[in-house]
Amino acid sequence: MEALVQYLLPLVLFPISIALIYLLRKGGFATLKLPPGTTGWPMLGENIHFAVLGPQKFISDRMKKYSPEVFQTSLMGEKMAIFCGAQGNKFLFTNENKLLTSWWPKSLKKALLFPEFVENSLKEVSALKRSFIHDILKPEALKQYIPIMDAMAREHVEKEWAPNEEVKVFPLSKKYTFDLACRLFMSIVDPHDIKKLADPFHLVTNGMFSVPIDLPGTAYSGAIKGGKMVRAELLKIIRDRRKELTESKETAGRDLLSRMLLVTDEDGQFMSEMEISNNIIGLLVASYETTSTAVTFVLKHLAELPHIYNEVFREIMAIAKTKGPDDLLTWEDIEKMKYSWNVARESLRVTPPAQGAFRESVTDFTYAGFTVPKGWKTFWTVHTTHKNPKYFPDPERFDPSRFEGSGPAPYTFVPFGGGPRMCPGKEYARLEVLVFMYNVVRSFKLEKAIPNEKIVFHASPTPMNGLPVRLQPLGK
Ligand code: HEM
Repeated sequence: MEALVQYLLPLVLFPISIALIYLLRKGGFATLKLPPGTTGWPMLGENIHFAVLGPQKFISDRMKKYSPEVFQTSLMGEKMAIFCGAQGNKFLFTNENKLLTSWWPKSLKKALLFPEFVENSLKEVSALKRSFIHDILKPEALKQYIPIMDAMAREHVEKEWAPNEEVKVFPLSKKYTFDLACRLFMSIVDPHDIKKLADPFHLVTNGMFSVPIDLPGTAYSGAIKGGKMVRAELLKIIRDRRKELTESKETAGRDLLSRMLLVTDEDGQFMSEMEISNNIIGLLVASYETTSTAVTFVLKHLAELPHIYNEVFREIMAIAKTKGPDDLLTWEDIEKMKYSWNVARESLRVTPPAQGAFRESVTDFTYAGFTVPKGWKTFWTVHTTHKNPKYFPDPERFDPSRFEGSGPAPYTFVPFGGGPRMCPGKEYARLEVLVFMYNVVRSFKLEKAIPNEKIVFHASPTPMNGLPVRLQPLGK
C-alpha cells in the first residue's frame, strides 16, 4: 500500500509537468547528440520501470535496445546518463573532479542532513575533513577494532542465534551491523540508547531513495520525519560528549565521535555539531544496508553451497585451533582468511549491495560519440560488468576461484566503486564480514528454510522473507 501511494501520488502532478517536459525537450539540447534512450513519463521518469524490473534487468534491457556504452533515462526527477561496461566505469572513475562531481538524490539529502551543511558534507568537503574520514577507516586504524568486532559477534551469536533452531539472517545481520556502528563510532552500547537511534533511522533508510514528494503516507515523508528524529538524538549525544571531553581533557579520541570533536582544520577551527552529525549520519547510511546485505548474501551462498561452506569451515577451524577459548581474533588471523574473503568477494560480485553511484557533469562532455550536457546526472553500475560473460565467464556460477591469482580485469569488479571516490569503508566492511563469517561458520551448519526464497530490490537486494535458515549447531 505504501509503495502504491508512493508511486501514485506523483500522478496528481502529471498535467502540470507535461508543459514543462515539452519545453525542456525542445529547449537547449536540440543541437547536441544526446545518448540514446527515453526519459519516460513526465515527473515519474522511468522510476516505475526501474522499481518493477529491478536495476539489473532495467539496465540490460536498455543496453540491448539503445546502446551497450551509454544511454539516457530519467530517475528521481533527474535526466541521467547510465554508463556501461568496464570502459564506462573507467571513464567515470578517472574523470572525477574534472568532468564530474559528486551528486546525491534530493530525497537522501533532505531526509538526512542539516540543510545548512549539506553542501559541506556531500559536495566537496574540505580536503582535511575528507581525508580525516579516509584516515579513520584505514586498515592501520581499524586493526584495534578487530577484537571488539569479534567480542560483539560472539555475544550476538550466543544471544540471538544459539538459543534458536531457526533464525532470520537479514534482520539479525542488520542488528549486528547497527550495534557495531553505534559502539565503534560513538561508544553507545546500551540497547535502549541504540533503539532510540535505530527506530527513526529505519524510517530514513526505507524512504531515502523514494520519489521526493513530501505528502503524508509516503515513504519519503517517513524518511524526513525519521531524519529529524535521528538528528535531534545525535545532537544530544554530540553535546554530551563535548561536555565530557572538556571536563576530562581527553586528547586521544576514544572513538570516531571524540576524534571528530577533537580534529581541527588548517585554520584551527573545530567541526560544528551539525557538521559532525551530518558526517556520522553519512557513515551510518553508507555502512548499514550495504554491510548487512553483504553479510546476509555471503551466508546465503554458504547455506546453498556445501562444498564452499566446507572449505570456509576448514580455513576457519585451522585458525580457531591456534587460539584459546577466550582469545579474540587479531589482524593476523583475519589475514589468514584468504579463501573466505574470495567467497565474500564472489558474493559481492553476484549480489552487490550497492548498485552504483551518481555524479553530476560540471561541463558538456562527449563519451562514445554522445554528448552529456552540463548539469545532467550520471550513474555507473555494478550490473554491466559483474554479470557480463565477457568479464566473468558463466557469470551466474558462484566461483570464488575467479579471485585467485591476478583476479578480475581492471574496472570490472566494482562493488566498492573506483577512483578517488571509491568507498572508504571497504576495509571496515571486509573486517566485519570476515569476523561474522568466522563466528557463524564455526558454530553452525546452515540450511535455507525457504529453498527458493525470492530476492526483491529496495536500495539493495533483499531476501523477501529475511532469509530464514535452520541451524545445526557444531561442537567448537
Ligand atoms: C559491503 C559494504 C559496502 C559496500 C558494497 C559499499 C559500497 C560503496 C559504493 C559503491 C560507494 C560509492 C562510490 C562512488 O561514489 O563511486 C560507497 C561510498 C561510500 N562508502 Fe561504502 N560500501 C560499503 C560499506 C561501507 C562502510 C562500512 C562505510 C563506513 C564505515 C562506508 C562508507 C562510505 C562513504 C563515506 C562513502 C562516500 C565516499 C565519497 O563520496 O567520497 N561504506 N560505498
